[in-house]
Amino acid sequence: MITHKQLDNGFKYIEIKNKEAEAKIALQGAHLFHYKVKDKPSLLWLSQAAYFEEGKAIRGGIPICFPWFGKNKDNPSLPQHGFARTQLWAVISEEEKDDSTTYIRLQLTPNAHTLAQWNYLFDVTLDILIGEALSIALSVTNTDIKPFEISTALHTYFSVSDIETVLIKGLDGRNYYDALDEKNYIQRGDILIQEEVDRVYFYPSETIDLFDGDTKVKLQQEGSNSLVVWNPWIEKSKQMNDMTADGYRSMVCLETSNAREDSKVLNPNDTYVLKAIVQTL
Ligand code: BG6
Repeated sequence: MITHKQLDNGFKYIEIKNKEAEAKIALQGAHLFHYKVKDKPSLLWLSQAAYFEEGKAIRGGIPICFPWFGKNKDNPSLPQHGFARTQLWAVISEEEKDDSTTYIRLQLTPNAHTLAQWNYLFDVTLDILIGEALSIALSVTNTDIKPFEISTALHTYFSVSDIETVLIKGLDGRNYYDALDEKNYIQRGDILIQEEVDRVYFYPSETIDLFDGDTKVKLQQEGSNSLVVWNPWIEKSKQMNDMTADGYRSMVCLETSNAREDSKVLNPNDTYVLKAIVQTL
């Protein structure tokens, strides 16, 4: 079942329920903020203090970062992670493919606001498949007559039972940029998080595994040569109005991306696809 809903403040979202899974997608940002497979815990983390308001990104789920990831290189005063997550997207396709798979396609096209921040013509779509696995694919086409450079992310917040006991596999031996001290390192072994982490890993395995007790979450990535690992920990959380004091303990972001050196230049008519498939095993 696909239902279009609205909060009292006019904030619009789609609710999906099928035999295998349920999900919620906000039209602002094409932001998937809930996904749960039957008899399994919610896969995505959502802050208890998240805003559901026009112009504010939702803290949790899968924010879409486009056309830049992090700070804008040329103008750091522009909004972090680009405008896609606070723009209203259009639903251009919705279909119950079978009783356990639902497909939604959303689209973002340029308007006065996007052109004022980034003067390029583009066609961006997000294809979401809700079923036993979650598939999410961002397609960017350059519809302009000049090339442009993008760095994007499927900024996925995973829900975990206790951050300090989680193990992330698939990054051993990879180079990473540490945004906290702005230096480069090589990862040795699997990742355990016991402090603030804000890193861009280069050339991650196509499959990243997140171990949380007996639960294993598998993240498969396509079109991505960088993965961001982020947890704000205690002090950074205090600076964020949409994080509760202990919210950081139950989340970790593993962001399928093309960040920093992995940014892409698209010539006119080029299309770039960034995709993540996520499943709890
Ligand atoms: C991560 C960045 O992707 O997103 C962090 O690496 C940043 O540096 C985090 O703090 C959250 O960003 P925002 O804009 O949603 O607060």
